[in-house]
Amino acid sequence: MRYGMQSKGVAEWFAMKAGLVPQPILDVILGPLQGRALMVAVRTGIMKYLADRPGAPLSEIAEILKLDVECTQLLLRVLRGMNYLTLQGDRWSLSKSGERYFGLQAKEPYSAFAEYGIPQWDMTEKLEDVVRSGRGVDFHDGQSDADWQIYQQAMFENARAFAWFVVQNMPVPPAAKTCLDIAGSHGWVSYALSQKYPQLRPVVFDLPEALTHAQKIADKAGYASAVQFVAGDIRRDKFATGTDVALLCNILHHFPAQENVAILKRVRQAMNPGGSIGIFEIETPKADAVAEAAGDGFALFFRITSDSACYRGDEYVGWLHDAGFTNARVVRSVRMPSRMLVVAEGK
Ligand SMILES: C[S@@+](CC[C@H](N)C(=O)[O-])C[C@H]1O[C@@H](n2cnc3c(N)ncnc32)[C@H](O)[C@@H]1O
Repeated sequence: MRYGMQSKGVAEWFAMKAGLVPQPILDVILGPLQGRALMVAVRTGIMKYLADRPGAPLSEIAEILKLDVECTQLLLRVLRGMNYLTLQGDRWSLSKSGERYFGLQAKEPYSAFAEYGIPQWDMTEKLEDVVRSGRGVDFHDGQSDADWQIYQQAMFENARAFAWFVVQNMPVPPAAKTCLDIAGSHGWVSYALSQKYPQLRPVVFDLPEALTHAQKIADKAGYASAVQFVAGDIRRDKFATGTDVALLCNILHHFPAQENVAILKRVRQAMNPGGSIGIFEIETPKADAVAEAAGDGFALFFRITSDSACYRGDEYVGWLHDAGFTNARVVRSVRMPSRMLVVAEGK
């Protein structure tokens, strides 16, 4: 995957190919600004307002949301360039892609994810320190309650976009009854798996700060009663025994390699014979691999926001074998760039 400049027409395409466009100016100003523009459009209520009131004129948007008219117009124009908004005459609406992500019937809602970009922005500001010191910062330690709330909601939105991949590829033994969703937050992934395997009972294990909000999210979405929520710390606490299926989605990149092996060993000990495990993660490219915008970008992002890193599929496979699992293998999909599901079976 590549991310960056696109030409508007043939002349610009040639200018770009010929190296006549000053790319660093655009990278330094436009890249960060576009991301921030989307976050602010959600935070100020613009996206929600246009979802409720398509075709609203600028003056109305600014007046109702108590925003400056001139600056709001500049923001709207940037969002139009990003393909989230349309302008017809003087009327602003969500575009097709705006509707898809921010509309009332959004197929893939990302409002919380965009808003959580604001605390994440503060984290990425630490990049220079991290590059100098080699020390990342575990963001879980310093979050306010409001950050925890939006973080959990953002993770729910993210999970709704990838759960199908886990459900499609997760091996589930025929007699499996319990699915331990470790660091499972909202529990959407194990709940989605239980929709395919109705005998499975999802049990989410997560930090208490997360569960305060995660349970409300599941409740609002109407599936909380199908999930059991258990508060605990994956680094310290025991997992309940008798687990048939264990899921670890988007968590192990927070911990060093040795700790991950220790966690996987403890998961293995808590599992019934013949159970299965699935690790859904971002995969970091090999050091000599072709540049990959998503894989390389996420690897750097998670190096800042944890004191660990993203790993490669073969590393997870090795750890699963070290922890006593068999037949560990990596499943990838073009629809999931830089993501993978590593699955294995217990003995
Ligand atoms: C990136 S979210 C992933 C949530 C969910 N598994 C998903 O993929 O949507 C990471 C989750 O791990 C939880 N977490 C972080 N550190 C943890 C720890 N030490 N013990 C238990 N849960 C932890 C966070 O509270 C958060 O809900």
